[in-house]
Amino acid sequence: MEATSLRSSQWFARDGKDGFIYRAWLKKQGIPAHELEGKPVIGICNTWSELTPCNSHFRELAESVKRGVIEAGGYPLEFPVMSLGETLIKPTAMLYRNLVSMDVEESVRANPLDGVVLLCGCDKTTPALVMGACSVDLPTIVVSGGSMLTGRHMGRSIGTSDIWRFSEELRSGKMTTEELALAEAGMCRSDGHCAVMGTASTMACMVEALGLSLPQNAAIPAPDAARKVLAHLSGMEIVKMVREDRRLSHILTRQAFENAIMVNAAIGGSTNFVVHLLAIAGRIGVDVTLADIDAWSAEIPLLANLQPSGLYFMEDLYYAGGLPAVMNALLTRLHKDCLTANGKTIGDNYRHATGYNPEVITTLEAPFNNISGIVVLKGNICEEGAVIKPSAATPRLMRHSGPAVVFEDIDDYKRRIDDPALDVDENSILVLKNVGPKGYPGMPEVGNMGLPAKLLAKGVTDMVRISDGRMSGTGFGTVVLHVSPEAAAGGTLAILRDGDIITLDVANRTLHADLSPEEIAARKAAWQPAHPVAARGYVQLYQQHVEQAHLGADLDFLKGGSGSQVTRDSH
Ligand code: FES
Ligand code: MG
Repeated sequence: MEATSLRSSQWFARDGKDGFIYRAWLKKQGIPAHELEGKPVIGICNTWSELTPCNSHFRELAESVKRGVIEAGGYPLEFPVMSLGETLIKPTAMLYRNLVSMDVEESVRANPLDGVVLLCGCDKTTPALVMGACSVDLPTIVVSGGSMLTGRHMGRSIGTSDIWRFSEELRSGKMTTEELALAEAGMCRSDGHCAVMGTASTMACMVEALGLSLPQNAAIPAPDAARKVLAHLSGMEIVKMVREDRRLSHILTRQAFENAIMVNAAIGGSTNFVVHLLAIAGRIGVDVTLADIDAWSAEIPLLANLQPSGLYFMEDLYYAGGLPAVMNALLTRLHKDCLTANGKTIGDNYRHATGYNPEVITTLEAPFNNISGIVVLKGNICEEGAVIKPSAATPRLMRHSGPAVVFEDIDDYKRRIDDPALDVDENSILVLKNVGPKGYPGMPEVGNMGLPAKLLAKGVTDMVRISDGRMSGTGFGTVVLHVSPEAAAGGTLAILRDGDIITLDVANRTLHADLSPEEIAARKAAWQPAHPVAARGYVQLYQQHVEQAHLGADLDFLKGGSGSQVTRDSH
């Protein structure tokens, strides 16, 4: 590509006052003139933050990317965007995913960048950055931060999925507070994001399956030297992508999304995949629906034995061959012609990938579980859909009828769940309202609500749970999530009452309340929204514009893109 056709030349190759202003202030960072004379300028979009512990090593990672960019003849400029730490942000990092995507989109478009490297780690940082970048559509590559080393506790391996177990064991008296403190000390032993196939790992696999990263991006642990090597190579690759004008829209085709859905099923990926993939598809303008997620998951068995659907950890996945070995095992099903970031196809990249441990990565002929993926449910409780992850559910409960025990919101749930007088048994179905996008607001990860203490004491380990919220990708159980329309938008969920008989039938993909249409209509006519819209600020904007979960919970006015062109100058 000729220097003058670089996008950055619209800043740096200018004469007179404008060129002077664009160049002179950059030079105060010690940049010699020749660096701005026709080299591809590569933005490194960094979500480093000490408030995002999973991304706290990203300044180092950015240095590796820069070395690669420089080696390939580009010029790197690192910039920050709002970062989202899953564990610290209240009420939920999901409330801000769309806000970060706006930050990324406007930062990329407004600046003299020819290509972008997205440094993504903790759950929401990946979809937020990819969504924003899609709405600009420059050459873009993703470098994930990598997972933590496997946690250790009293002689055994632990990961984030154990938190939910520990919590129930503590409540039922099987674990002491001293043991819990030991577990807390051994959970997070290194740089990186959650060490199981939770949402962060799911997102890292999603970008690799979509073709947005180099092969092996998904599973190299954060502290492994190979992670820095991958960052360096990605820095080199983005310069090539700019020279060859390989943009997101060339990679993110309908077939690329189908590949990502199939890979997500094979790895037992998080249910959060659904809302993030749909939102990304909406930005790049590819038509992907909830029905596509069900359809393309349906025939794919579980090929990776990873918590929470299986036994192992992300570190084990890497040592067993990483995502390339999984994609190789799945290759007969994948669209092999899809283009990826390195200019090669999925077939080229993964045809020769090898698996090294059949305990962790298996074949289509001998899957760990024939049930996998994400099943989309429909019925009078969820006219637009709801999701369940069968591989993380209890087989016995996949067809179950029982009376509803209804919590009006999260405060009601917290107040009453452990009340010995609560009228609940193991056949009851727990229903939690008002934890959807508009309702909470932000659709938090509370859908795998803990079971009543008196049932835990009886040894009950799972019950059917239904909500309009999400669940941590590390969570498990027979948990129906993302009910759409949500309660706060007047969905049928809002009018369910204690004792209503609900039937979940995963095989037939239905979720149904035993209520006549007349009864539902009468209750809806009397329904009043329980929670007001925020009085001001971003939260008000979010509540007024967020779409329902079955569409990806993006803001309605952010759908699509505005390209990379900016015609007016700043002075
Ligand atoms: Fe950051 Fe799990 S908390 S990935
Ligand atoms: Mg999470």
